[in-house]
Amino acid sequence: MKIHQYDVVIVGAGGAGMRAAIEAGQRTRTAVLTKLYPTRSHTGAAQGGMCAALANVEEDNWEWHTFDTIKGGDYLVDQDAAEVMAKEAIDAVLDLEKMGLPFNRTPEGKIDQRRFGGHTRDHGKAPVRRACYAADRTGHMILQTLYQNCVKHGVEFYNEFYVLDLILTEVDGRRRVAGVVAYELATGELHIFQSKSVVFATGGVGKVFKTTSNAHTLTGDGMAVAYRRGIPLEDMEFFQFHPTGLAGLGILLSEAARGEGGILRNADGERFMERYAPTIKDLAPRDIVARSMANEVREGRGAGPNKDYVLLDLTHLEPEHIDAKLPDITEFARTYLGVEPYTEPVPVFPTAHYAMGGIPTNVDSEVLADNDTVIPGLFAAGEVACVSVHGSNRLGTNSLLDINVFGKRAGKAAAAYAAGADYVELPEAPETEIAATLESLRTSDGSENIAAIRKDLQDIMDANVQVFRTEQTLREALDVIATLRERYANVGIHDRGKRFNLDLLEAVELGFLLELAEVITVSALHRKESRGGHFREDYEKRDDENFMHHTMAYLDPESEAEGVRGVRLDTKPVVVTRYQPMERKY
Ligand code: FUM
Repeated sequence: MKIHQYDVVIVGAGGAGMRAAIEAGQRTRTAVLTKLYPTRSHTGAAQGGMCAALANVEEDNWEWHTFDTIKGGDYLVDQDAAEVMAKEAIDAVLDLEKMGLPFNRTPEGKIDQRRFGGHTRDHGKAPVRRACYAADRTGHMILQTLYQNCVKHGVEFYNEFYVLDLILTEVDGRRRVAGVVAYELATGELHIFQSKSVVFATGGVGKVFKTTSNAHTLTGDGMAVAYRRGIPLEDMEFFQFHPTGLAGLGILLSEAARGEGGILRNADGERFMERYAPTIKDLAPRDIVARSMANEVREGRGAGPNKDYVLLDLTHLEPEHIDAKLPDITEFARTYLGVEPYTEPVPVFPTAHYAMGGIPTNVDSEVLADNDTVIPGLFAAGEVACVSVHGSNRLGTNSLLDINVFGKRAGKAAAAYAAGADYVELPEAPETEIAATLESLRTSDGSENIAAIRKDLQDIMDANVQVFRTEQTLREALDVIATLRERYANVGIHDRGKRFNLDLLEAVELGFLLELAEVITVSALHRKESRGGHFREDYEKRDDENFMHHTMAYLDPESEAEGVRGVRLDTKPVVVTRYQPMERKY
């Protein structure tokens, strides 16, 4: 068994992980472990922008940004965290500019800014241009810039090292981090990384759904590893469905298309968002737009032969403008649907995009073992974490912001912790458990097929746990998930080898997906109200009296929640500083 020693180990090389690495790597010995090559991380798929109240093109300030974030999240946002994010957004953009990111510019040479959903001037009066951008490749540019700067600072990368376990040991009655166990894809060997600090930055879990903008790799690894080690998962019922996925495929078409003037229309050509959000129309927050689109389809106003999508109309925009501002997504429409956006509207429908929930942290990105107990040395940032700055619905462009602000904070805090801490002694053979799991999967003769189980999981999640939910659909989904978990116990894989065994990798990932789908669905059953991305047709109203709290889900074999054995649910108060919950009108 190979044992490595680093002051700080960062798990994941997307935006949050690499932003953390730039901070930690300049202060202390840091390694980044990633199951992909860094520049293939999913941050690269983010398109439209990263918001900050720079006020480069219109009056703006960070307080309006804070308010929009809180209101957009339907008041489930921890307001202290939202203030930190909106305030630090400005430096986060300037940091990237100094690192060399090629932002689009105004004619005077300032960083240009565009509109995005839910970002408003003066507490909702009108849309504001707050998103800084690099055409519709902002995430790609951020990923490349951060990687180049990691290289510049000598950060060590372990590429295709898949972290499968977190080593926590008890010291003086308190759990502390000792390191992680990683599986090297090239050799099939396990490695122990002993470290004083560990930062989880592994991204989201969009692959629980069939129709998703997420890459194949987004299987909730960090969330599941933490959950299995007794760390709760917060607000997992809140999943964002991005309004404009390419119909039938889920591939993201940036909200920037509407920020640049694109309009959603139903089969009658009606600009239907005027009915649902009269003030900001197509630029309402995503939960509202996605629900409105799904409603148009339900009520028979969908377009296409099956009336099952709506249309994104860019035909009134100048082709030169489209080419300059939206080159990638218009090419996606041509390539994948054969539609010419200059002259034809593009078929779109909501696609699973972003997990608002995740591993609970405080504003210093320290992971919480319950509502307030910090696990010394353990940090999380980005989509894997729940700070909670997004509450029940994230505003567009707050994700690239979140990874930069809280990635930076995590890297700094992890390095500071490591500077004052000793290594925690490793328990004997910390790899035993995960080695046994891998071996039993690798040698299993089971008759069940990984892809078939995954497909059945994604189908039921799309059908029953999507934009509209009820007690009945959620219970049905839980029954199916229980059956799939039984089938998973009998899964067989074809590749018995050790080198690049992707069958084995997918089997492990499927285990994570099944577990997290259960947590999402149990948490959704518990929340008998509608708020943000969680819409219960049987409880259509937001209920602040009974549900103005975060949901905390624990893996606990002794407990039962909503009829599911092994899950315990608890609640955590929402931090309210300045903005009392109000009805959300746009
Ligand atoms: O629509 C988009 O460009 C996505 C942005 C985001 O999720 O923040």
